[in-house]
Amino acid sequence: MSDHGLGPRYSETVSILDQAVADAHGAYAAARPRSAAQAEAAARVLPAGSTRSVLDFDPFPFRVAKAEGSLLHDVDGFTYVDLLGDYTAGLFGHNPPEIASAVQAVLDRGWSLGAIGDNEHRLAELLCARFPSIEQIRFTNSGTEANLMAVSLARHGTGRTKVLVFDGAYHGGLLYFGPHGAPLRAPYEYVVCTYNDLGSVASAFDTEGSDIACVLIEPMMGAGGGIRGDLEFLTGLRRLCDANDTLLIFDEVMTSRMSIGGAQLRLGITPDLTTLGKYLGGGMTFGAFGGSADLMGAFDPARRGSLTHGGTFNNNALTMGVGAVAVADLVTESALDRLYERGEALRNRLSERGSRYGLQATGWGSILGIHATDREISTPADLGSVDQRIGELLFHGLLTRGFYTARRGFIALSLAVTDEQLDGFLAAFDGVVHELSERSILRESLTNLPP
Ligand SMILES: Cc1ncc(COP(=O)(O)O)c(C=O)c1O
Repeated sequence: MSDHGLGPRYSETVSILDQAVADAHGAYAAARPRSAAQAEAAARVLPAGSTRSVLDFDPFPFRVAKAEGSLLHDVDGFTYVDLLGDYTAGLFGHNPPEIASAVQAVLDRGWSLGAIGDNEHRLAELLCARFPSIEQIRFTNSGTEANLMAVSLARHGTGRTKVLVFDGAYHGGLLYFGPHGAPLRAPYEYVVCTYNDLGSVASAFDTEGSDIACVLIEPMMGAGGGIRGDLEFLTGLRRLCDANDTLLIFDEVMTSRMSIGGAQLRLGITPDLTTLGKYLGGGMTFGAFGGSADLMGAFDPARRGSLTHGGTFNNNALTMGVGAVAVADLVTESALDRLYERGEALRNRLSERGSRYGLQATGWGSILGIHATDREISTPADLGSVDQRIGELLFHGLLTRGFYTARRGFIALSLAVTDEQLDGFLAAFDGVVHELSERSILRESLTNLPP
């Protein structure tokens, strides 16, 4: 028996995999001395050398010298097709001229107003017209803040305290329900259920329904792995919320791109509150939450007991001005529908290629996840036993071939990515898979590692 107690074939596979990962890291580092030096200097003043944990990867993230269209150029002279799309915030690609001139228009008229400009209500009108659940909206600085506001509003509106969420869900830095999320979690009282398991929600309502203010859910778990909520599950949630006078909050920070009216329009399910973020501010810092005029009227000072909604940068001139142009001119129904179709086609093509090596592509529309398992994935827990080293090798293999995705296999297509680039990506994917199977890594690991 080996040190692991798992038998010689397993230990052999472990060492092949570990060696392959070490080789990939070594080759990456050797080719990028400038990024390495910057990473080292940054780590002296920023923990781990950056200020957004999800961008970190081993051995160190490359430093961007310039971004244009669908491309990122790093300081060591490498160019990558950007398939990460800033975790969905980069819907427009880099530096589109329409956004650049919208920024210039704001700069020409002044920013940091400390007063109300004319773009604020324009952006609000545009968004209210699109999302079936939103009659009135309020802006925040981030998706995290939008979710915190929506949950607090729901608790206020219902007079109840508890918040029903799903294991493994990510709703922002202070609302993460995955491993190690607890220390930074906003201190609400949570009821944690299992995604796509209506039974778990029904029994929570049976025991504490009268205390549950709201259900907070993403119609597709983005950071959780690109896991779609079944229509039956989501419809059932709507029904349970109605039966228990609980508010249903759709976190559409990522899924709003599924159609002109977000995932909710595609699904035909109208939540009570919706939260938005990412690209809808035209690439500027953005968040928003909205719902019926009655619920949102809690912020109207004419109402007794009204709430105060602060935030120095809630209506910052850049987000309001650039967001209004981006939403009106670039985030059109046809642009979103076309991107959705292209994402679906890419996922099918990836799945076709990956399935015989035990890889699968999950996700919805233009948001995809690549996972090294052929088991059905309906909750983040289903990904718990997946060997992360395979993902690491895929990630580095794709980087070496000039394609930037997230280390955890996340892809968000931008409007700037071309069909030719997606063909090139599939060829690169084939190349990595071929290389890993030649080295007996893919087949060996998936047939031999314990579940
Ligand atoms: C579903 C979801 N909700 C909320 C957030 C938080 O948004 P922000 O990073 O703008 O705070 C994210 C960010 O990735 C997200 O994916």
